[in-house]
Amino acid sequence: MPDAEKDLGMPQVPVDDRVAPLALSPDAFGTYVHIPFCSHRCDYCDFATWADRSHLIDGYVDACVKDIERQRSEGLRDATSIFFGGGTPSLLSGAQLARILDAIPRTPTAEITVECNPDAADAQRLDSYAQAGVNRLSFGVQSMEPRVLAALGRTHNPENVFAAVNNARAAGIKRLNLDLIYGTPGESIDDWRASLEGVIALAPEHISAYALTVEPATPFGQRVASGEEGPDDDRQADSYLLAEGLLKAAGYNWYEISNWSLAQEECRHNLVYWLGGDFATVGCAAHGHSDGRRWWNVRTPEKFIERIEAGRDAISGSEEIEAGLRLEEAFSLRLRTRAGVIPNEAAYSVVNDLIDGGLAKWAPSSAGVEGAGESGSGRSLVLTPQGRLVATDVTARLLLAGAAVR
Ligand SMILES: C[S@@+](CC[C@H](N)C(=O)[O-])C[C@H]1O[C@@H](n2cnc3c(N)ncnc32)[C@H](O)[C@@H]1O
Ligand code: SF4
Repeated sequence: MPDAEKDLGMPQVPVDDRVAPLALSPDAFGTYVHIPFCSHRCDYCDFATWADRSHLIDGYVDACVKDIERQRSEGLRDATSIFFGGGTPSLLSGAQLARILDAIPRTPTAEITVECNPDAADAQRLDSYAQAGVNRLSFGVQSMEPRVLAALGRTHNPENVFAAVNNARAAGIKRLNLDLIYGTPGESIDDWRASLEGVIALAPEHISAYALTVEPATPFGQRVASGEEGPDDDRQADSYLLAEGLLKAAGYNWYEISNWSLAQEECRHNLVYWLGGDFATVGCAAHGHSDGRRWWNVRTPEKFIERIEAGRDAISGSEEIEAGLRLEEAFSLRLRTRAGVIPNEAAYSVVNDLIDGGLAKWAPSSAGVEGAGESGSGRSLVLTPQGRLVATDVTARLLLAGAAVR
């Protein structure tokens, strides 16, 4: 331990070494492909997606391929992970998906994920995805309780989920994620427990559990604004802690606020975002990042097609991220993960408070932690489940105390 820590009374808390440190591989590079089409718009969802534009899909696929070719001519790196997100990427046929995927340069062992709706995941489609090279699927399960699915306005039922998982396994796709949402008005804690137990029984490699957020621009957000019941904070906190308990008991390790996985089954693509890696972007409304510069594409599929057909790129804006801000962002993102952060001495008294209050603890550090402060101390500060409930406040306290100032 550095002398300064002793002087400031850093507590001698033993590190928790039961779970391997989280780290980004040195060659990590992600390529994200946005598919902005859904067959139905869920009332709570604010993602860039449209439910009335399936006539654009062919032209959109052509435009994605053309944009990738342009990016290749400018030196697009080999992806170690490719993520088709949406929207509902599983609305693409195997042939459409393969056209985009074949155009993207990638390493031989790249992780290739496709987000799927459980009712748009038939056996033939998933077979064709597997043949195209897809090796990971992420299903938007949300709940295993029909009443909660109905309250969310979803079009699938638990039987669709069973069938989708079976189809994925039969297609030979070895890595599955199941997304859940908790805190839907009307969802009891027993409903939530049943959903967790239901997905655990399907033995996916990865589970995401998101607190239902009220997005002001959605029909759900507008109903809540005009007095309808919204999610309850205390219920959501209880639901989160129940998820942590059940998932941990079932062998899933927590690694980001809303994400748990079996050992070595973390989503490599999301780690690129959370641990400060570089990534390219294809499609409308998508963001890219390279070496301190970020950019974002035009928002609508029409604009994207128009720009690419005109022989241009799809970038609508970009910014250089100033060094101090970059450090603070890296710090904030890392603190949301099991990688944790190494706070500067300036923040030691806040760190001690957090540890004493049960909101954070020391854990073994990943090599080359880029967050803030010195690396190589062998340990980093990681949020406890209680701390994750108030991650935004904890981050603000640490930043205010100078934890991420070089
Ligand atoms: C882009 S969606 C893609 C998944 C797929 N379209 C589906 O819904 O089945 C990714 C995930 O975001 C989550 N999500 C979307 N809107 C949300 C909200 N308002 N609150 C919490 N989670 C949300 C859902 O769990 C969803 O599965
Ligand atoms: S939650 Fe999924 S299916 Fe529903 S509108 Fe959003 S992207 Fe589409």
